[in-house]
Amino acid sequence: MWAPALLALTTFADIQPILERRCVNCHRKGDIGPMPLETFAQARPWAKAIREAVLSKRMPPWFADPRYGHFANDPTLTEAERKALIEWASYPVAGRDVDVARRPGGLPHMNLRITAPRPFRIPAGAEVPYQFLILPLDTSIPRWVSAIHLIPKDRAVVHHAVLYVRERSDPWLRSATPGVYFTADGPSSRTTSDILAVYTPGSGPVTLRLGMAKLIPAGADLILQIHYTAKPKQAAVDQMQVALRWYQGQPTHRVLTLQMGNDHIRIPPGDGDYRLSVSGTLPQPALLLSMLPHMHLRGSAFEYQIAGASGRVETLLRVKPYNFYWQIHYQLAEPRPLAAGARLLLTAYYDNSPNNPRNPDPDAEVTWGEQSWQEMMIGFFDVAVPPDMDKRHYFTRP
Ligand code: HEC
Repeated sequence: MWAPALLALTTFADIQPILERRCVNCHRKGDIGPMPLETFAQARPWAKAIREAVLSKRMPPWFADPRYGHFANDPTLTEAERKALIEWASYPVAGRDVDVARRPGGLPHMNLRITAPRPFRIPAGAEVPYQFLILPLDTSIPRWVSAIHLIPKDRAVVHHAVLYVRERSDPWLRSATPGVYFTADGPSSRTTSDILAVYTPGSGPVTLRLGMAKLIPAGADLILQIHYTAKPKQAAVDQMQVALRWYQGQPTHRVLTLQMGNDHIRIPPGDGDYRLSVSGTLPQPALLLSMLPHMHLRGSAFEYQIAGASGRVETLLRVKPYNFYWQIHYQLAEPRPLAAGARLLLTAYYDNSPNNPRNPDPDAEVTWGEQSWQEMMIGFFDVAVPPDMDKRHYFTRP
């Protein structure tokens, strides 16, 4: 008797490119996803969980309000992709399904890898102050960088990391010994040095657009700032690796990472709608490339807006709900020109009420601090400027 092959409608070969595009960035071996989803053998046992996560839209994680902006790294599934994943996950053992050869690639080729000279131990349950580590470079010529990847050894304990470029003439942290972890308090931790990359869980390698690069000037070195969060019951060890790819040729744009923030935080106990804002005028024309909002456990929403000369306010990004555990770097699909004199407005919203399930203590008055039970407000953003302009030039009007 002939029976129609009901099950084999969607095979792994159909959904593998979807996993590759939307999931593998986090669900690859060694990354933050709890399991790799690169091959049939890896994905098959998770079919039920994949079905549930895709149906409930819990995966892939993304928090930008779809009414504002278009983002290159938006992993949101199209309706067709959702249907295909759900169909495969409902019948993952269809007879004709076989593993397909993985396409090579994924991670960009890197020219230089620098590993922290020694491991850092994070005791169980400890509160660890920000660690700094100077990585000396020996470069007598300026280096243009087209891709940067910060790779922790134990991703579970790295809350975030920032990689700075310290120029030869910069006195910042000069008294510290290179290659040795150290802490720096309040004022000495502040800097106007350029940022090469910000690592947050799931961020993966940063690859700049063609024509765009970050600059490591001759004689500069790199400084890592790492925020470790301990596991409650188990000691951990991390050793960060920095991977860089050189730009081939001369770029047309230099990419700078800028930030604006407000440290005057005083959230009353129980306040469910505390707002904080900050604004600044952009002194030079630039192309806006990406945005990365940063708050802690009480953060509930974050907005980037731009006010043009006419006073018209336009929303560039609205992250709502903000989720501390998903620090996402929102990369614009197309660079957005910002005129000199445009005013950038950032607004952060906090929920210190008991309705916030992540709130460590609704009875506390919350002020600025580096630890997750304290608060912060920073909006990072990358801009592209002419290649001969550095951060100081950017802020000094011609
Ligand atoms: C930005 C990183 C990221 C992306 C992109 C991502 N995931 Fe995840 N995923 C995670 C992390 C981290 C967890 C564990 C924490 C959690 O469940 O919230 C997880 C959990 C899961 C789980 C639940 C596992 C369990 O324990 O039940 C499934 C299933 C899953 N992901 C499937 C997917 C699929 C399918 C995609 C793509 C359509 C995807 N994820 C995209 C990071 C990611």
